Amino acid sequence: MPTSTKMVDGRWSQWLNLLVCGLLILLKTEGFNVGITYVENAVAKGAVCLDGSPPAYHFDKGFGAGINNWLVHIEGGGWCNNVTTCLSRKNTRLGSSKQMVKEVAFSGMLSNKQKFNPDFYNWNRIKVRYCDGASFTGDVEAVNPATNLHFRGARVFLAVIDDLLAKGMKNAQNAILSGCSAGGLTSILHCDKFRTLIPMGTKVKCFADAGYFINSKDVSGGQHIQTFYNEVGSSKNLPVSCTSRLSPGLCFFPQYLARQIQTPLFIINAAYDSWQIKNILAPGVADPHGTWHSCKLDINNCSPSQLQIMQSFRLQFLNAMSGLGNSTSRGLFIDSCYAHCQTEMQETWLRADSPVLGKTLGRSGLPSALALPVSHLDPFACCPPSLYLMVDFGACSAEQEGLKADPIEMTRFVDFIQQNKLQTGSFIIGSNELTLTVKMSLPIPIAKDRPDSSLFIS
Ligand SMILES: *[C@@H]1O[C@H](CO)[C@@H](O)[C@H](O)[C@H]1NC(C)=O
Ligand SMILES: *[C@@H]1O[C@H](CO)[C@@H](O)[C@H](O)[C@H]1NC(C)=O
Repeated sequence: MPTSTKMVDGRWSQWLNLLVCGLLILLKTEGFNVGITYVENAVAKGAVCLDGSPPAYHFDKGFGAGINNWLVHIEGGGWCNNVTTCLSRKNTRLGSSKQMVKEVAFSGMLSNKQKFNPDFYNWNRIKVRYCDGASFTGDVEAVNPATNLHFRGARVFLAVIDDLLAKGMKNAQNAILSGCSAGGLTSILHCDKFRTLIPMGTKVKCFADAGYFINSKDVSGGQHIQTFYNEVGSSKNLPVSCTSRLSPGLCFFPQYLARQIQTPLFIINAAYDSWQIKNILAPGVADPHGTWHSCKLDINNCSPSQLQIMQSFRLQFLNAMSGLGNSTSRGLFIDSCYAHCQTEMQETWLRADSPVLGKTLGRSGLPSALALPVSHLDPFACCPPSLYLMVDFGACSAEQEGLKADPIEMTRFVDFIQQNKLQTGSFIIGSNELTLTVKMSLPIPIAKDRPDSSLFIS
């Protein structure tokens, strides 16, 4: 299977990044804001964020035919592994509901518009705020008065689900536990527990977006992520099917526990997951001279040998997918984007030219992936061109918001990228002339057939 990455002429890459950021910002406006709900009664149960504040979520009610369907999506945000790092997160939105914004935008899989989100638009959609720093696994009664840190994530998870059951999820026909990044990992770790909390008659499935973190060595040959997870992992609330065999640290890696999960499980992940490249493959501690710094910020800056290392990371990632097992209750969509979390944004969830069920899949756009029986996925489906060019989402800034691109002008540009040939092209977009050189072919993603594992619930 050919693997590689494309590069853009340095001179233009900055412009391209601007363009991409601009487009993404334009797309962001398709979202709508949903207010926060604090789970005040959780405090009495000791189910609190790191700082002792109540947990919180954002809830947009289902309607019409979706009124009894529930999508519980868990926010991501890394982990803290010791008192120092947990203290520095305690008074941020990732450790305290007092610091969370009162409204968040729902888009992509959380959108309430049929055209943006045909499968879940009318479901009850919930975004659970992440505030325990350990993918909702901690449950330590004692609180050190010196730090006032509460490690109560597992209780928070239960309290939030309880609250949602009381708000109508107890009558659910269908319920999905999903999440992005550390929240995606939560949806794997807590998948079977979620099943037990939901009434027997409800169809329950789980899926993780960018939550399949792999146990890979870093660029210095060290085991950075394994050591890190060892410090985060607390055995009490990880699946016993794993902790009975392996250390809690290892049981934080989906590859060692996914096979044992009883509930249907669907994985969406980029094989070149940008968070994993930055923090598992080339974390700062493994790169004391900063050789990887500019490459991580912008893949156009990577040297050939760095690209090669990234490509072998991809192979390791694909190998680790075997940990999912081969049960028919598994599904997966793995693409080759340099991306992290693809379901929450319209651009990567569903675009006008995204493939739809029953039609030949195009080369761009994640299909409304969960809606598709996986057997329909085209193994050559690529992610949107913007993602190949995208360097880092965080790089988008407010000054770039004014940028606009005419969709018609964009068509030729997009087609050019999708041809996936080593070639140079010129484009006029707005008042800008753009020259783009594709120096390497795009990586080809994989998708594996598991017809029964569709998360689409008809
Ligand atoms: C806490 O973890 C961070 C990140 O791994 C590390 O840099 C730091 O040295 C640790 N601090 C202590 C006190 O263990
Ligand atoms: C897949 O499942 C079959 C039984 O259904 C089993 O014999 C086989 O070893 C499994 N393969 C892998 C790679 O797990």
